[in-house]
Amino acid sequence: MVTALSENNSALSGHNIQHVPVVTIDGPSGSGKGTISQILATKLGYHLLDSGALYRLTALAALNKDIPEDDVEALAEAALNLDVVFKPQADGEQLVLLEGQDVGVQLRLDETSAMASKVAAIPQVRDALLQRQRQFRQWPGLVADGRDMGTVVFTDTEHKVFLTASPEIRAHRRHKQLIEKGVDANISHLLKSIIERDERDRTRTVAPLVPAEGAFVIDSTSLTIDEVVQQILDFIGFTELK
Ligand code: C5P
Repeated sequence: MVTALSENNSALSGHNIQHVPVVTIDGPSGSGKGTISQILATKLGYHLLDSGALYRLTALAALNKDIPEDDVEALAEAALNLDVVFKPQADGEQLVLLEGQDVGVQLRLDETSAMASKVAAIPQVRDALLQRQRQFRQWPGLVADGRDMGTVVFTDTEHKVFLTASPEIRAHRRHKQLIEKGVDANISHLLKSIIERDERDRTRTVAPLVPAEGAFVIDSTSLTIDEVVQQILDFIGFTELK
């Protein structure tokens, strides 16, 4: 089961939510977090939180409404009032509807990515999205993909992973992903924007991109997706029934 919850079906059951297991997968863009989190959620039968999508959605909502990137109040309000529905599809992908519109392609555009990392540096935006992210913690468990899942959002979990890879391989992966979605992309432009975004994400004052204390750090530059997934399953002590 891979499930992403919308606000409507995420009411917390009184039944001790702190005991729901969470595996956090943090790391920079293109490190393979998205794909790996999806596979892990399927294998474990857990829910899935793609927290980057919430920042991208806030960015897209701001771009659609012409909110300037320095209007902190309006950006935080856009984050708080996001009208979004995640619909899991049979292939494990998620359909993302913003105000009823399928925004899957727009979310991945470079313009949205750049704006997402700018709005993500604003503390009021992060606060506005915090509770929404925690509401994804539901039985039987959650795989949470992001930048600060282990350091801020789900600090109490013992299963924290930090995934990294060289900027070049990450640009290459992002290029392939965009081309597969039918989006035109230039690899050297992607590399430049990845390096800029990394710098912004790592050096920001709120929730900077750093491995959580005790996180299992994996460099995926020369590993296959299956190898990374296996390393994480071993780390969390999961044994597959054959
Ligand atoms: O993971 P993804 O590339 O979709 O994230 C988009 C942007 O959202 C990142 O560049 C980062 O700035 C921000 N982000 C964040 N904290 C998260 C997830 C994403 O700041 N937990």
